[in-house]
Amino acid sequence: MKEFKRTLITSALPYANGPVHIGHLAGVYVPADIYARYLRMQGQDVLFIGGSDEHGVPITLKAKKEGVTPQDIVDKYHNIIKTAFEDFGISFDVYSRTTTETHKETASEFFKTLHEQGKFVEKTTEQYFDKEANQFLADRYIVGTCPKCNNDKAYGDQCESCGSSLNATDLINPKSVLSGSPLELKKTTHWYLPLDQYEDWLKEWILEGHKEWKSNVYGQCKSWLDGGLHPRAVTRDLDWGVPVPVEGAEGKVLYVWFDAPIGYISATKECTPEWEKYWKDEETKMVHFIGKDNIVFHCIIFPSMLKADGSYILPENVPSNEFLNLEGDKISTSRNWAVWLHEYLQDFPGKEDVLKYVLTANAPETKDNDFTWKDFQARNNNELVAVFGNFVNRAMVLTHKYYKGVVPAMGDLTDFDNEIIETLKTYRARIEKSIENYRFREALKEAMELARLGNKYLADSEPWKVVKTDEKRVETIMNICLQITANLTIAFEPFMPKTTAKLRGFLGVEAFEWSQLGDLDLIPAGHEVNKAELLFEKIEDKTIQAQVDKLLETKKANEIEQAEVTPAKENIQFDDFAKMDLRVGTITEATKVAKTKKLLKLTVDTGIDTRTVVSGIAEYYKPEDIIGKQVSILVNLAPKTLKGIESQGMILMAENADGTLSFVSPDAALKNGSEIR
Ligand code: 2FM
Ligand code: ZN
Repeated sequence: MKEFKRTLITSALPYANGPVHIGHLAGVYVPADIYARYLRMQGQDVLFIGGSDEHGVPITLKAKKEGVTPQDIVDKYHNIIKTAFEDFGISFDVYSRTTTETHKETASEFFKTLHEQGKFVEKTTEQYFDKEANQFLADRYIVGTCPKCNNDKAYGDQCESCGSSLNATDLINPKSVLSGSPLELKKTTHWYLPLDQYEDWLKEWILEGHKEWKSNVYGQCKSWLDGGLHPRAVTRDLDWGVPVPVEGAEGKVLYVWFDAPIGYISATKECTPEWEKYWKDEETKMVHFIGKDNIVFHCIIFPSMLKADGSYILPENVPSNEFLNLEGDKISTSRNWAVWLHEYLQDFPGKEDVLKYVLTANAPETKDNDFTWKDFQARNNNELVAVFGNFVNRAMVLTHKYYKGVVPAMGDLTDFDNEIIETLKTYRARIEKSIENYRFREALKEAMELARLGNKYLADSEPWKVVKTDEKRVETIMNICLQITANLTIAFEPFMPKTTAKLRGFLGVEAFEWSQLGDLDLIPAGHEVNKAELLFEKIEDKTIQAQVDKLLETKKANEIEQAEVTPAKENIQFDDFAKMDLRVGTITEATKVAKTKKLLKLTVDTGIDTRTVVSGIAEYYKPEDIIGKQVSILVNLAPKTLKGIESQGMILMAENADGTLSFVSPDAALKNGSEIR
């Protein structure tokens, strides 16, 4: 294996048009952070890059919709995202953004260099133009009917209904999102990166040279390369982005996917004057952490850009994750189907590490995975509390009980002690191997096994019994327990740094180095440990239910939003309408009709008389809540007997898309018997 002097870790720059959610954390930022922390603990030279991706069409669309500027949008979300990452302790060395001057300059220079070296092909094509808005439209600004599935809300680049990727010219009846007007084709010139020219090189570099890449990443690259590559436009007709630095290119900007990965370079420049060391020295190992929708950009397009320039290194690995779903459904910003990090922190203050633990333990490393609140609770209660927390707590409590918190000396070792110690020593290599192969969930499982080992040691050596017969022996047992506890602060450090800091506080020790994992002299005899609190706390059913309920509310709201409105009925004449005698009345009594789920028996003062109406509203209203309520009632409906009760008239109800019913009531108190016309 090649030896490197330093590591440059990049994590995908999230679009600054919404907050970040658990899918972002699980897919990219938690694994990248684990990797960075682990390497730093090894004393390696590491730079961990992050930032917001602030260009692209969706941001301009959102700005338009909200009546603000794109800059307002990115300012708002950049801050929200940055704060969420800080709160979760994602240890970026720099968290920048693609609207900085450094970035604009860097991206512009990058383009200029390739342009001057003749690395682009210039092509004039016909593209859709919105006459009313007087501008060319990016694919996202065009909607029409999908030629594959007939969805009439397909975008010019993709149909979200059937998932096909499209060209705007494939759409049937294309229309402008901006003005709603039909479009015309007009000539425009753009610069293309001729990916076809890099195909052979990419095949060699990836398919032959990087067989070790994760199978999901390698597989996606292979299918792109087998399908054949085509020139890709790297400029757009748009007024938000980095202007194309070529004469005569007014009104054109760099394509967001051209400038965004250059954002990694700009951010490095902002972080250190020695940035070139990280980008241009073969002894730097560059690793891109991304989600699976970014694979082609990081494995094919960006490397081709770097190769075209020729002065940059290429990524050594691109450990992309698959997607995390939420309670069985795809996470979606527009449908609000997500656990937002800032909301999680409000609901679970101080439990950042719990979420990081669960997201790593269940990380979508090789296939899409599901986050459920039940699993979150189970992992917290059965693993963090019952295994890790329990061991630490018992070790601390017994140390205080037997030795007033002063670490006893290790005496003669039994075979069992030696066996445990030998196992303990294997963990460093095991965790290292997993992390270095980007298998973070396996690595975390190993760390948890170390906590299990501690529990097993304590349970099997039974110091609470031995103390009655052999006090010397107990000293050794407790010393070993405390050494295991100290080892846990190392093993868990890359994954749960807030927890390990707390645990070091209990032990009264400073941070250790990675190489000390497995050592038995981490805490000297005679050292006094502090009083310990609980490391984790149980999460109750009602807390979890509240989260599940919140999601159910979202689901309901989405269903209502998406429900089709029933089409209008045929026209009637006024006379038909006038036949109905509609009045305002007041409910004066209400009781459930025995042996039915849906029916209430109501007494209604109609102003004309007092009558009985049987109404199918019992699932939506409690009898005691509707007494005194004014309602609309059809008084001249022929009586009908329901469950043995004669119903004289009908209360008007409006039915919501989810089937729930509400009264149609006057918006002021009226005299009973008032006519509704
Ligand atoms: O998919 C995304 O969220 C993109 N904003 C990722 C960009 S990664 C890099 F190229 F900046
Ligand atoms: Zn479709």
